[in-house]
Amino acid sequence: MPIFYGKSTLMDYLKSIKTPHSTIGFVPTMGALHEGHLALMQKSLMENKNTVVSIFVNPTQFNNPDDLAKYPRTLEADIKKLNALDPNIILYAPSVEDIYEGNVQSQSFDFDGLENQMEGKFRPGHFDGVGTIVKRLFEIVEPTNAYFGEKDFQQLQIVKKMVAKSGLKVTVIGCPIFRESNHLAMSSRNERLSTQERDEAAIIYKTLNIAKEKFKNDSANSVGEWVQNSFKKNSNFSLEYFVIADEAQLLPCVRKNKNKKYRAFIAVLVNNIRLIDTISLN
Ligand code: PAF
Repeated sequence: MPIFYGKSTLMDYLKSIKTPHSTIGFVPTMGALHEGHLALMQKSLMENKNTVVSIFVNPTQFNNPDDLAKYPRTLEADIKKLNALDPNIILYAPSVEDIYEGNVQSQSFDFDGLENQMEGKFRPGHFDGVGTIVKRLFEIVEPTNAYFGEKDFQQLQIVKKMVAKSGLKVTVIGCPIFRESNHLAMSSRNERLSTQERDEAAIIYKTLNIAKEKFKNDSANSVGEWVQNSFKKNSNFSLEYFVIADEAQLLPCVRKNKNKKYRAFIAVLVNNIRLIDTISLN
């Protein structure tokens, strides 16, 4: 499998394999690869001539130094998984220096307000960090198509906005959430959960499903109150936020509008490990 640790050798290689009609699919990741990541790669392999995967734990998108320090780093195991999936995958696993060239800072973005809700409220600066790294990776890889999971739905909308505003020529494709057997959304952070926490985390998706049912007849506000109350009864899981918002602008739903598509978003802390999930309500 071709592996590159530096952007200039990667860019030279990509130039050398480029033909007039070839396409590059790109899956940016922070490693600790799970089946959700592999599904994005499978889609990219099916839809493009070449597939590039990046593995880079991006420091500028972490507002919590402890979360950054504890983020799982499993490069050797990740390389094995990529090789088993398809040895033609091109891996870019840069260092912080290769990406940031001595200036580990985010660019400041205006995502038309998408950045002010949910994750943006609770993780100040997070989306500037995401915008900075994704834009830089897009400039290096120059992909035709880029694949992102819908678990991070707000991130997906923000990346689409960044591409539209910066005029980059890449199609951003959202892919369905992959779930464990108890329906916990797959995430690299799940590796940090104990077996018991992992089992009990089934409550997150269960809550989203009940909320979806309730939203058919009840207001967003009353569904929100029900979710708050049910988490108050659970001492191991603390609710950071539960929000019902429209998919386009991510603004909290005050009064239902039948022309809008709604989605519920949730963030929960288990033993200081942050888990997020989302469900479409239409
Ligand atoms: O979703 C992620 O894993 C990260 O936010 C991304 C898109 C790879 C940027 O660092």
